[in-house]
Amino acid sequence: MNKLNQKSTLAEIYANPAGKDILHKICLQLNLPEKMIFEKSPAKKLTLDGLNKLTGGKFSEGFFEALLSILNTDAQDTKREAVLPKKEIPWWKTAVFYQIYPRSFCDADGDGIGDLKGIINKLDYLKDLGVDALWLSPVYDSPNDDNGYDIRDYKAVMQEFGTMEDMDELIRQLHERGMRLIMDLVINHTSDEHEWFQKALADENSPYRDYYFFQKSSEVPNNWSSFFEGSAWRYFEEQDIWGLHLFSKKQMDLNWDNPALRNDVIGMIRWWLEKGVDGFRMDVINYISKREGLPMGDETIGAMMEYTGIEHYFYGPHLHEYLHQVRTQAFEPFGAFSVGETPGIGMEMAKKLTGQGRRELDMLFNFDHLETPGHVRFDDYRYDLNYLKSYMTDWMEHYGPDCQMALFWDNHDNPRMISKIEPDPKWRVVLAKLLAMIQLTLKGTPFLFQGQEIGMINQNFTSPSQLRDIESWNLYEKLCRTMPAAEAFAKVAAGSRDHARTPMQWDNTAFGGFTQGKNPWIEGDGDYVNCNVEEQISDPDSVLWFHRELLQLRRQYPLFGTGKIKITNKERKNLFTYYRYDGKDVFYVECNLGRKPLYVGKRPKNMVHIMGNYADGGGQTLKAYETNLYRVSKK
Ligand code: NOJ
Repeated sequence: MNKLNQKSTLAEIYANPAGKDILHKICLQLNLPEKMIFEKSPAKKLTLDGLNKLTGGKFSEGFFEALLSILNTDAQDTKREAVLPKKEIPWWKTAVFYQIYPRSFCDADGDGIGDLKGIINKLDYLKDLGVDALWLSPVYDSPNDDNGYDIRDYKAVMQEFGTMEDMDELIRQLHERGMRLIMDLVINHTSDEHEWFQKALADENSPYRDYYFFQKSSEVPNNWSSFFEGSAWRYFEEQDIWGLHLFSKKQMDLNWDNPALRNDVIGMIRWWLEKGVDGFRMDVINYISKREGLPMGDETIGAMMEYTGIEHYFYGPHLHEYLHQVRTQAFEPFGAFSVGETPGIGMEMAKKLTGQGRRELDMLFNFDHLETPGHVRFDDYRYDLNYLKSYMTDWMEHYGPDCQMALFWDNHDNPRMISKIEPDPKWRVVLAKLLAMIQLTLKGTPFLFQGQEIGMINQNFTSPSQLRDIESWNLYEKLCRTMPAAEAFAKVAAGSRDHARTPMQWDNTAFGGFTQGKNPWIEGDGDYVNCNVEEQISDPDSVLWFHRELLQLRRQYPLFGTGKIKITNKERKNLFTYYRYDGKDVFYVECNLGRKPLYVGKRPKNMVHIMGNYADGGGQTLKAYETNLYRVSKK
């Protein structure tokens, strides 16, 4: 294949798999009609040089260099593409995961902070719900600048959460119940209090110095921005040196180009696998390989993408190589499972990262469905489910038969999906069930986030003092410099990660039964009186039971995880319908994605209604957000 260069046209860039992903992402961000531009309009004939001229040199040369290098490197990387001989279906393809944010799940010792014993106390609940595996957000020793995503010691448990004995007990008890555990693996960065960093900072001749990115410079080394506001560089006055941190000032980026660092990380992963954990969710794992020399980021791209410098590390030059090493040296010997958190990675890149024969990741989280085109998390807007339909249709049809999607709506980094779609509480229950139906019947592996199974929604935060997240604080502080405090707060409250981090609502006693002791570290708005586990357990029409039934069905019919899918009515607004089938069974799912009644007419006689979100549903006209599942019997 000819190498792409400045004379290449946009159509040629779009024809390159990584190029397509990048242009797709830009179009999403700016809400531009991608196919129109790159396949039909005259703009497709523009060369990069031409684009540069047309935009008055808005893009830097460095950007084009980075872009071309990503595309050309990717196009050459075709090794390990062979598909492995088909073995039996791995467990995670038919599993349902449940993500726990340990700080907010259940507090057993009454200090107001969730803990491992609290999780152990709820294992029967989770087993009854029907989940197969848990993913725990980080429980390692940490000063908690970013709630555990800043690890001080990978081989110790955070004191507030308990002890290593508790951890062993959790693993034992999970396995006893036939369930599995994956941990959060935060290896793009460590806390500045990690021993490696401390040694590296203290002594410039320390072997750990090269475990991080340090630079001597009279000014900030480059213009990269931190995801938590400000520059990505922290100045250490005493040592007169700069250190790189893509996240908070206390989360220092690791230098993966150093083979000794990679070996240490691999050793640590193996240590946990020897303990019996079944795999890992790998935090921002696509950021681990940074472009050599850490070049300046393009300001135009930075403004478009909200963060400057991202083109130099979101799909870095050695990403595939490092993942392959970690996979073969740590994961494979234990048969361990991996799911990567990979912001910014599009479908073509995802195919490479999760392609079976390439041996890098089992699955990954793509985030492009969490906001509709042209929107970012902190925008206050109503999410249109028709976008979810088009996104899912695309991935279901094009990701490829060997690739398995990780299906999720909520996690600890996002406001609750129900609230984004429909803040009117009137629709809360039907909508929660509709979302459950889609998530649990599409092809892929669902990841439920704690509270989703009862339909938890955003909190009604009324003051900045209620927020706990460093990202929210920093953003609020920044916005207050340019707008009235009330406006700044409204913006932060629209997208704060804290919506997902308030205590799990177990019952209608104080603090929703999350703790019997001190006030929780973060308080909810009292919604536990409307929505809690205890009440839903005794109500067969509850959101909780809807989840339970779907999970039971998945267990009975593995085709929901691995069978085929055929999406119908693709062009019809608000109607999302599809068949799920294997050689033996066929199911049909129908969803009204809006509030307006939707006429669908009579269904064939061989469709038997199994479940839905209205007691009198399944008629010829679908009600607001109505969903139904049918079994299609042979005629
Ligand atoms: C992604 C995690 O999900 C998020 O919570 C965290 O703040 C960043 N990575 C940094 O580790």
